[in-house]
Amino acid sequence: MSIAPPQAPPIARLLPQEPLLLMGAGPTPIPHSVGQANAVVINHLGATMNAVVDGVKALTRYAFQTEALHCLGVRGPASAANEMALANLCWPGRRVLCLVTGTFSARLAEMARGIGADVTVVEAQVGEPSTAAQAAAALARDRFDLVTVVQGETSCGVVNHDIPEIARLARAHGALMMVDAVCTLSTMALPMDAWGIDVVVTGGQKGLASIPGVSLIALSDAAWAVAMQRPRPMPHWCLDLERAWRFWGDHQYHYTAPVPGVLAVYEALRLVAEETLEARFARHTRCSTALQAGIEAMGLTLLIPAAWRLPSVLSICRPPGVDSAALRARMVADFRVEIAGAFGLDIVRIGQMGEQCRPEMLFRTLYALGESLRREGHPADVARGMAVLAAGLAD
Ligand SMILES: Cc1ncc(COP(=O)(O)O)c(C=O)c1O
Repeated sequence: MSIAPPQAPPIARLLPQEPLLLMGAGPTPIPHSVGQANAVVINHLGATMNAVVDGVKALTRYAFQTEALHCLGVRGPASAANEMALANLCWPGRRVLCLVTGTFSARLAEMARGIGADVTVVEAQVGEPSTAAQAAAALARDRFDLVTVVQGETSCGVVNHDIPEIARLARAHGALMMVDAVCTLSTMALPMDAWGIDVVVTGGQKGLASIPGVSLIALSDAAWAVAMQRPRPMPHWCLDLERAWRFWGDHQYHYTAPVPGVLAVYEALRLVAEETLEARFARHTRCSTALQAGIEAMGLTLLIPAAWRLPSVLSICRPPGVDSAALRARMVADFRVEIAGAFGLDIVRIGQMGEQCRPEMLFRTLYALGESLRREGHPADVARGMAVLAAGLAD
């Protein structure tokens, strides 16, 4: 052999003794039973897996609030599920209106362009949402086959509240409506059928509190019909909806399913159903609102105004004189808490998704943030912030 085996330590030696508390923009901590499910391999075809697959579909219908037949798991990151939607619904000549509020909504436009679709981008001001007025103006100017929007723009922390109206406008103009709910699903309302949305995509690693790498997609009958009547073959074999339905609909072989990930997503969705969406939304609102108040009481500024602030990922302006990377490194070193940096904006971000929305996580994170700021020379009022957080959680 000309290539010698490398010196690679066992994985247990690479992992820290105590994992970091993941309070960034995802992945998020997972419940123990989801981790246990993720440790099991069974045959990807057969009676047990069929029951799991049927369960994932039924639980997805609940989480997405849809009666759509076509709910599928997708092997791959949420970006792959977004790409699956776009690649099946678009081809050269198809016209796509992409409402862009930041990095992730811009990614949808990039993907649609890559597929050869004719893409129009309507960009919101930085830190502001996409509005129904913007969508109405674009739809009045041109004809579109598909409109895309994110519910929560993780990159800057903006929520698009106008989705029901944008979906209504899209339908009135004969366009399908696609929503990226990657950082919001199961943290806030997105009733797919009631709002008239044709495609919803989410990942596992955020609000669902599952593992990264297995995602979910649901398509209305109208969206499915477009995908099945494509005038040209699908360029992506793995992301072909018709082929994927062999597995998700007919329990047949498409490719070898990522079995542990599908088991994990089943368990994560089951926990959502057990908690109920109403209770889960209330838990997220209560925790995020209390944390926002605690952050502000510490003397920090949230980037996005309350009216369109995304509750699931909070953007905090970097205090003057504090180095953002040094602050985050100190939080890791001194408190074993990890928060996120940003895509070009002068902010740090704290996630409020799934298991991150537990009081014990919030107290540890806010204390770590405040104390680390003090150690970096910024006079954060830690006691006041903690008191306001406690009061908010007591409400
Ligand atoms: C809103 C949104 N869309 C899409 C993605 C892409 O997800 P993934 O990294 O799993 O591809 C992310 C990831 O942060 C996101 O926040």
